[in-house]
Amino acid sequence: MDQTLQLQIYPKQCLREKSNEIIAITPRIINIGQQMLDIMYTNNGVGLASNQVGILERIIVIDLQIDDVKNPIILINPKIIKESKHKIPTEEGCLSLPGISEEVLRPDSVEVEYMDIKGEKQTIIADGLMCVCLQHEIDHLNGILFVDRLSNMKKKLILNKFNKLMKNKD
Ligand code: CO
Repeated sequence: MDQTLQLQIYPKQCLREKSNEIIAITPRIINIGQQMLDIMYTNNGVGLASNQVGILERIIVIDLQIDDVKNPIILINPKIIKESKHKIPTEEGCLSLPGISEEVLRPDSVEVEYMDIKGEKQTIIADGLMCVCLQHEIDHLNGILFVDRLSNMKKKLILNKFNKLMKNKD
């Protein structure tokens, strides 16, 4: 694949689309996953979803880099199959909304099913940062951004702040 992927910044339309299920894991899909990891590392992120690079196929990549050790995972067709009733707030940011962050309330544990790049079905049971990251990235695949999880008032305030930041960049 010669296509070079680029990080897409809000309010790009691809961030609002729902990504499609991947039927076959081809070299193209693996290449997209690897490019996504590169883009994530370059921008010091811990997770990235395909929508954020303009690809509407269900891929997310995550690397929490605990103790500075790289541990990349590429998840194809990730799906939350169980989530806790109990929710906790965590400060979240997003590479597609640079410069802003806010506390988001989400279930504090999830079970996620996905396919790895070999096409094998995997399950992760996660809490902590991994749990937040999985939910944030799977939201992206459904066209949902972390600001959509805030109250209307908070969302308005934070998007105003973001728009001002973007204007001052030019
Ligand atoms: Co994000």
